[in-house]
Amino acid sequence: MDEVLSEIKSKIDIVDLVSSYVKLRKSGRNYQALCPFHSEKTPSFMVSPELQIFKCFGCQEGGDIFSFIMKAEGLEFPAALKLLAEKAGVKLKASVPTGTESRKEKLYKINSLAADFFHFILTSHKVGSAARGYLSSRGIAIDTVKAFALGYAPASWNSLSLFLLKKGYTASEIVEAGLSLPRKNASRDCPIYDRFRSRLMFPLRDNLGRTLGFSGRAISSKDEPKYLNSPETPIFKKGSFLYGLDVTKQDIRKSDQVLVVEGQFDLLIPYQAGFCNIVAALGTALTEAQLGLIARFTKKVTFIFDQDSAGLEATVRSARLAENLGFSVSSVILPADAKDPDEAVRKGKESFAKAVEESLPFYDYYLNLLKRDLKGGDIRQKRDVAEKFLMELSFLQNPMTRSHYLSTLSSVVGMGVKTLEEVLGSLIKRGQRAPTVFSKLKENPVASDIAGLLQRYIISLILSSSSGVGREAISKLSADDFITLPYKGIFVALKKTLSGRKTAVDGQTIRDKLDEFEKPFFDEIYLLDLAGAKESRDEIIGEMESVTARLKKEKIKKEMEEVTAKIKEAEGSNSVKEVEILQRELQRIAEKIK
Ligand code: CTP
Ligand code: MN
Repeated sequence: MDEVLSEIKSKIDIVDLVSSYVKLRKSGRNYQALCPFHSEKTPSFMVSPELQIFKCFGCQEGGDIFSFIMKAEGLEFPAALKLLAEKAGVKLKASVPTGTESRKEKLYKINSLAADFFHFILTSHKVGSAARGYLSSRGIAIDTVKAFALGYAPASWNSLSLFLLKKGYTASEIVEAGLSLPRKNASRDCPIYDRFRSRLMFPLRDNLGRTLGFSGRAISSKDEPKYLNSPETPIFKKGSFLYGLDVTKQDIRKSDQVLVVEGQFDLLIPYQAGFCNIVAALGTALTEAQLGLIARFTKKVTFIFDQDSAGLEATVRSARLAENLGFSVSSVILPADAKDPDEAVRKGKESFAKAVEESLPFYDYYLNLLKRDLKGGDIRQKRDVAEKFLMELSFLQNPMTRSHYLSTLSSVVGMGVKTLEEVLGSLIKRGQRAPTVFSKLKENPVASDIAGLLQRYIISLILSSSSGVGREAISKLSADDFITLPYKGIFVALKKTLSGRKTAVDGQTIRDKLDEFEKPFFDEIYLLDLAGAKESRDEIIGEMESVTARLKKEKIKKEMEEVTAKIKEAEGSNSVKEVEILQRELQRIAEKIK
């Protein structure tokens, strides 16, 4: 197997492969691009031709050609292997047998079988008749039922559970798929019971059409809750899922715009009326992961959330995020008598179409809504509107857009732009600053400490040096200067590689000397290239000496912290002698700082 993998790797260059997805730009020894896996405005996605790996310092995705394809195409390893083997012209021996079907594949299969089961009941079984009546009362046509594979979970405690057990899946697999729950008094023939009963079933399918889970709507107003969803499972996370994308993605790409609504009916009813470039967030504000999904098809989003305070809140939060991720964002105000898109379309397709057409860029939309509270010239109301709008502008990172809306606001509330600008400035100072690649790196738990940062920087400096300077730098250091394990190991490997070598260090040779624990740390250092291109020997050695000095201080600080903690402990247990010894040790360490 390993041989096949390396043969495929030798035939496919990661730079070529990634290039067919994103535009790569050369940056030092690496290539750089906007990450294909999350939306961003400044590139933090790096590819190393030398190591044949990629890493995104924004979303932390990384790996080799196989992990890239798995992520980019949403495939499991066996499928990615097959795809790349074909591309490389490498023959695979017998395909992976069904017995080793991966755990996730199994969960997709179980959910997909359940979807077939529910769909059959809804469309062809007599126990589905009430649900068919409900759907037609809500105006859903049979073509829509088919396109979205809607179904019905009958009012039975175990009909789905029995069906899936009969198909050969174990009780624990069915529970893991989120469809059933363990029974307290388990009987032999059915140790589990159905989670969804008497509900209209919406299969939740990802953009590749795989069924991840379900959302079930009660068809009797007496049943609670109104909507019941699958729990989080290894294949389903609500925050990174968008309803409808499998059916609508081509329309979204073609129209280069997406309508984002809240609920399933808010999607199905407009869809039937010809608004096919649409997705549903299923009742929440959009997350970065969901916007990342959308970004594969368009960068223009139009929000049509419910016309209540929760809907407005979701619109504002989603829009704020989308704006800063580089989307062009607009929002729709529905005709006054409609609470959501479902109702709006049923009340009048034309007036809905008109409302969509008249959607406003998000900040104009928001200001329009706020303006409604301005009755007459009450200064308190004006101040309130100004404050709310400026608060929203303070999240906006683009200074040109900010400046534009400052003057719009100025004419709405009749206050000077200068004054508004000052208030905005103080709001921004109070709030958060835009995250940079560097600050994201610092948020990363392994990277959060200063000592780690310093150690990575030293290694990066050595890596970017010529062999002579690198050797000189290394001679000034010892493995003990490094505080944490992976960096110590990387340093030792660097030293071994560099000693007795005339040519510059190459990444791959060093990487080969590392163990599996150290490799990811090395990759991160190599790709992030903290030191950048430094030209002169003096620059590198000077930088190294000052960083090493800081690192030494960090190390001493750490030692002092440890001893101080021990002293506290000894004091707690009243061992006077122990305290004395430790205090002397603390003094000795403190001396070192001088
Ligand atoms: N939702 C949910 N869980 C709930 C309530 C709602 O997941 N307990 C999601 C559903 O996907 C739903 C969407 O949020 O479609 C919108 O909810 P709501 O505004 O309550 O829907 P209504 O328009 O009132 O519901 P319906 O159109 O089905 O009558
Ligand atoms: Mn509704």
